[in-house]
Amino acid sequence: MRAQALVAVAFAAALSLVGCSSGAPAATSPAATAATSAPAGGAGGEVGVFTWWADGSEKVGLQALETLFKEKYPNNTFVNLAVAGGAGTNAKAKLAADLVNGNPPDSFQGHAGAELQDYIRADQIVAVNEVIDGLGGSSVFPQSLLDLLTVQGSIYSVPSNIHRANVVWTNPEVLKKASITAEPADIDAWLADMAKLKAAGVSTPLTIGGTWTQVQLFETVLIADLGVDGYIALFKEGADWGSDGVKKAVAHYAKLLGYANTASDGDDWPGAIDAVINGKAAYNVMGDWAVAEFAAKNKKDGVDYMYFPVPGTDGVFDFLADSFTLPKGAKNAAGSKDWLNLIGSAEGQKAFNLAKGSIPARTDVPATDFPPYQQSAMEAFKSDKIAPSIAHGAAVSQAWNSDISTAISKFYASKDQATLVADLVAAGTKNLA
Ligand code: GAL
Repeated sequence: MRAQALVAVAFAAALSLVGCSSGAPAATSPAATAATSAPAGGAGGEVGVFTWWADGSEKVGLQALETLFKEKYPNNTFVNLAVAGGAGTNAKAKLAADLVNGNPPDSFQGHAGAELQDYIRADQIVAVNEVIDGLGGSSVFPQSLLDLLTVQGSIYSVPSNIHRANVVWTNPEVLKKASITAEPADIDAWLADMAKLKAAGVSTPLTIGGTWTQVQLFETVLIADLGVDGYIALFKEGADWGSDGVKKAVAHYAKLLGYANTASDGDDWPGAIDAVINGKAAYNVMGDWAVAEFAAKNKKDGVDYMYFPVPGTDGVFDFLADSFTLPKGAKNAAGSKDWLNLIGSAEGQKAFNLAKGSIPARTDVPATDFPPYQQSAMEAFKSDKIAPSIAHGAAVSQAWNSDISTAISKFYASKDQATLVADLVAAGTKNLA
């Protein structure tokens, strides 16, 4: 009980930074937007659902939902509008164009937090309070999560899952080569292990993919070096992106890149994790969608792979949540609500999260229904401090994420630490203005 109360406080505090409602359109009355007297079997018609879960294990997660949707709502036709590319790198640009051109899908994937607030502020999505209420509201969804989806009392999406971003995935067979048996306590100890691996002939101690995976790695180093409170302060008024803590994180990050493969921007996350799975590399920092990739390759938890929080972030849950929206002007709003009801149901959340590697956003899906990794993530989510992810839209708007990504991508080529710090300072100043 005590731990849960603390978590609630920490989570709410961590996430308050994205709760800003200035500039949002006048709230639409929830009652006016969410009449749900859909017939059993669904409203009928095509329901176009836009995601970036187009390939591999992510596609399997979406398929679990599609199968259940067809079963529960046979009147509807599911139309898969997925655009490939991890973290929505390609999808978000296509979505932005479709929304601006008045051609919205019936529902799209958006991250809880600052990213969702972008769509709300642009008046591109409508409130779904009645759907959330019908699903059980705050008795089944954490209030702190609902707060991330809310502006002026209106709730703008239905959360499907919660992912953890600060996880190191490792191959014990590769670690054996350097006789590494213990988890490193901090980034310096981790770098020392990478040096041992190199000396033992492992040419790629750490893998990375394209820019968004580098942003995600960097955010975890920021958490390790600044601590959760210092990290959260980076997104609030008065943030100091030029601090010694940030400089230390940049220096650590530069050293980590020195142990990583050469990546080009288009390299997606499965390649980075597959190198660990295949024994070509020791470590990859990836969100826990990676666990679905291990499962897809028939790898066994604790035997073929192991995981631990990024060194220095133990006790912190670097958080992101996918959620689904009802876009303004959706052609089939009633069918969209069927979809939202499905993904927000306990049954939908169990089916999806079992396949996706994430944990349910709902609190009433039994942990015992899940494999060990997800059980450990559920525990961590309850007891850890919560830090919002940069790379996955919880902490920063899409514009700020894009500025940070440009800085990280530039750094990948230049390795100029002072310029990275200066670019981060400039991005902070611009986006907090
Ligand atoms: C995140 C998303 C996850 C996963 C990941 C990799 O942004 O929230 O569900 O899809 O990208 O593509």
